[in-house]
Amino acid sequence: MPYKDQFAMLDKLLYIETFGCQMNVNDSERIVTMLADLGYAPTNDPSAADMILLNTCSVRGGAEEKVYKRLANLRIYKRDGKSQIIGVGGCVAQQEGEELLKKFPYLDLVFGTHNLHLLPDMVSGAERGERRSETAFIDNDQRLDLFPSIKGQSRLSRFVTVMQGCDNFCSYCIVPYVRGREISRRSADILAEVRQLADEGVKEIVLLGQNVNSYGLKTDNEPDFSRLIHLVAEVDGIERIRFTTSHPKDMSDDLIACFGNVPKLCGQIHLPAQSGSDAVLKQMKRGYTCAAYLEKVRKLKMVRPDIAITGDIIVGFPGESEADFEQTLSLMNEVRYMDLFSFVYSARPGTKAAELNEELTRSQKIVRLERLMELQKRITREICLRYVGTVQKVMVEGEGKRPGQISGKADNGRIVNFSGDSSLIGSFIDVRIIQAYPNSFLGEQLK
Ligand code: SAH
Ligand code: SF4
Ligand code: F3S
Repeated sequence: MPYKDQFAMLDKLLYIETFGCQMNVNDSERIVTMLADLGYAPTNDPSAADMILLNTCSVRGGAEEKVYKRLANLRIYKRDGKSQIIGVGGCVAQQEGEELLKKFPYLDLVFGTHNLHLLPDMVSGAERGERRSETAFIDNDQRLDLFPSIKGQSRLSRFVTVMQGCDNFCSYCIVPYVRGREISRRSADILAEVRQLADEGVKEIVLLGQNVNSYGLKTDNEPDFSRLIHLVAEVDGIERIRFTTSHPKDMSDDLIACFGNVPKLCGQIHLPAQSGSDAVLKQMKRGYTCAAYLEKVRKLKMVRPDIAITGDIIVGFPGESEADFEQTLSLMNEVRYMDLFSFVYSARPGTKAAELNEELTRSQKIVRLERLMELQKRITREICLRYVGTVQKVMVEGEGKRPGQISGKADNGRIVNFSGDSSLIGSFIDVRIIQAYPNSFLGEQLK
């Protein structure tokens, strides 16, 4: 059923706000699918909604406080007479559980990262005035059988979850505590989903997980991630494959080779380094050295010279000296990231790093962050300018930024806007890049 018609018969409105990573974006889509069965259609207007849900993130302190503020603001939507349901899910919900119900008396629902399947029942209860919190972990593969599906959204590009959770316990990171143990989905289920999406007209698959490249390593009789990519590539109708996020320590030679021998695999990889200093990497428990990281990057560039590498960096980790920080800058100069997501370290209660002494003040960390961002801006500009004049194949996904423009992604993941008719949406078009902006390209269709 087309996306719009799917909600045509529904008589209640759901407003959902999503924070954090792609895992949460994906979970929100599942929630929308599930609650359609209860009569809820999505809306962008919280004041018109019968139910407001926040799907939250707790990876950094700031993100968490944002949720508390938002919850405090939402109070104004709790109308007299017809009471609106307010719920919190995701990683803050997982962490705080019942406490949230106590802190916010107008909150009705709290659901953890493993409890999406309970949501229909919880919402029915809330409609009768019940308040409920469910945050029990399901750390076995039963979790995967309870994994609600996403239906009927006709888009060209779709995320397909291949694994959930994380067992790495990087010393700064809350994710293993709020997402639970790492579990790989059965390859047969993944491939069935990919085939179904291909039948619906989906052309690009983004394989999704906290740590996609450790896929299958802990499961008997399942392929590893490189093999899984080959299997997805065999599905007719799928023309592009991407994946996120991969961990440098699990970046096998077979996976690197895929960038050379799987034509459908796009030339883009998100490979977070976190730091360029061995001392800091060790404290972070990342499981690789700076040299080992750079070696993987070298091999990737050998197999796919134009590969667009993106990454994450944390600045101001406890004990990070000026020399450590400068090693991060030199790593950036060597890798030459297309884009970099950089974060000021924030201690997360319960993690190992939270026990370490922090010597840097917040403003000292910000100074480092700004230096890093300045360097990255220059690198991004230099890389993108090199694309001007080249021809890129664009998968046209929708209307562009300006009237008369259409827009899509180049193989390297950059957005390209160009003049064209919306009848081209859904096709692959050769586009010459004529201008590079910080976050996108402007192009013109080849005649
Ligand atoms: N699974 C992914 C990342 C998940 S979290 C991976 O392993 O790369 C996304 C990013 O948030 C991380 O890569 C890291 O750069 C950042 N991050 C995580 N915990 C943080 C913390 N305590 N302070 C600052 N940044 C953090
Ligand atoms: Fe967090 Fe590390 Fe797991 Fe990524 S690999 S989610 S940074 S613990
Ligand atoms: Fe945030 Fe949870 Fe994702 S903490 S980054 S929403 S896994």
